[in-house]
Amino acid sequence: MPEMLNVALPKGRLGEKVYAMFARAGFECPEILEDSRKLVFENPEKRVRYFWVKPSDVAVYVERGAADVGVAGKDILLEYEPEIYELLDLGIGQCRMAVAAPKGFRYDAGRTLRVATKFSRIAQSYYAGLGRDIDVIHLNGSIEIAPILGLSDVIVDIVETGTTLRENELEVIEEIVPISARLIANKAGFKFKNAEIAALCAALSRLLDEDKRA
Ligand code: PRP
Repeated sequence: MPEMLNVALPKGRLGEKVYAMFARAGFECPEILEDSRKLVFENPEKRVRYFWVKPSDVAVYVERGAADVGVAGKDILLEYEPEIYELLDLGIGQCRMAVAAPKGFRYDAGRTLRVATKFSRIAQSYYAGLGRDIDVIHLNGSIEIAPILGLSDVIVDIVETGTTLRENELEVIEEIVPISARLIANKAGFKFKNAEIAALCAALSRLLDEDKRA
């Protein structure tokens, strides 16, 4: 009998897309689609158990082995560098990490640049690579407001459609890295449940290939 696979899904729109992929790959659990406040769903027949967790927490569940696998954004993996295996780029949740600033902004070499972000490590390492010292202002959301209020000069944030920037009169001045959703696995789980994880990975890869050909 195969082992039960514990899967952490990011709650929200991305998670719904992820579940749809897993279901198409043969790991369905129809109960998950019912409108409820439940957070754990299992399909013993398919040997799979899903949990809905906050997107930024998926890597924590996987790193500590509470989930064997999960789906997390590359932004979270770069920022927190969890000790996990990154197995597959699922090609969904595509966006980019970028520097944005008010229109007409110019770097001033004589002053330390103030950068507001949820992604302090990514911002630090990006500007370290450019040889520039920065003052990181760590915020938890609504980052776009920081330059408007003069709290920062620029922001480092995720840009998907660009609407939030446009509506706040900001623009992308540099692209840092493209982002998408990744299948990740717990390191010990990858050994002990290798057959199950490999089967999931193979089924998802086949699906990605089919979609590419379509
Ligand atoms: C993210 C990000 C931007 C926005 C970008 O915010 O931080 O604010 O989405 O998307 P867009 O380019 O399509 O407008 P999120 O919705 O996660 O909320 P937050 O600002 O509270 O982090």
